[in-house]
Amino acid sequence: MIVDNGWDSLVTVSMPRSPISEAYRTLRTNLEFSSLDKPIRTMVVTSPGPDEGKSTTLANLAVTLAQGERTVILVDCDLRRPTQHEIFDLQNGVGLTTMIVEDAAMTEPPLQETVVPGLWLLPSGPLPPNPSELLGSRRMGEIIAVLTKRADMVLFDAPPIIAVTDAAVLASKVDGVLMVINAGGTKRDHAQKAKALLDKVNAHLVGAVLNNVKMDASLHRYYAEQKGG
Ligand SMILES: Nc1ncnc2c1ncn2[C@@H]1O[C@H](COP(=O)(O)OP(=O)(O)O)[C@@H](O)[C@H]1O
Ligand SMILES: [Mg+2]
Repeated sequence: MIVDNGWDSLVTVSMPRSPISEAYRTLRTNLEFSSLDKPIRTMVVTSPGPDEGKSTTLANLAVTLAQGERTVILVDCDLRRPTQHEIFDLQNGVGLTTMIVEDAAMTEPPLQETVVPGLWLLPSGPLPPNPSELLGSRRMGEIIAVLTKRADMVLFDAPPIIAVTDAAVLASKVDGVLMVINAGGTKRDHAQKAKALLDKVNAHLVGAVLNNVKMDASLHRYYAEQKGG
């Protein structure tokens, strides 16, 4: 989908052979190698602050994993500013919060098919007044278990970790956490604070993604040559 500012948020769908998509494939491989002993089936993404690229990074990682023949469920747990349904151009009438309040939705999770085979989205659903409480509830643990039975990987989008406790709460319920750092925006002490907050809940920090890095011109040249061939 092309968003208003001209930046293409699902580059792995629209330009699968671009250097950015290749970077996502490297991320996929690195995740696999970082967890040989205990494969990561559930992972949450967060970052110190807002607008650092969490949702964009997670959406493209989810696409890349699905392109690698895995079944993937992407869950929008940003119950404050959900954006995954916008990125995938889908509805947000029912979703995660529906599963929290309706028993029927536990047996038939309201998953939506995306344009990518093997990738399903569970959008946030209607926004609740008490996101941290819901994400920390026992029901949320049950939802994670239900979804994990239905896919090879379940990925969770979350709000910034310094602003609110939601990401830390989720981090303690999943196998791993991926931290997004914005090369153009994240302050060093904010990155350190975010890491400290994750350590406090004994989260397993799998790694960090540096978003918004200026691409080396030689990579663009390489891609231009590849396209011709
Ligand atoms: N590397 C990038 N280059 C240009 N725009 C980006 C990049 N990463 C994210 N964006 C844009 O920045 C905005 C915030 O990104 P988003 O992924 O929603 O951040 P977050 O989930 O951390 O708030 C979105 O409009 C997104 O399309
Ligand atoms: Mg987001």
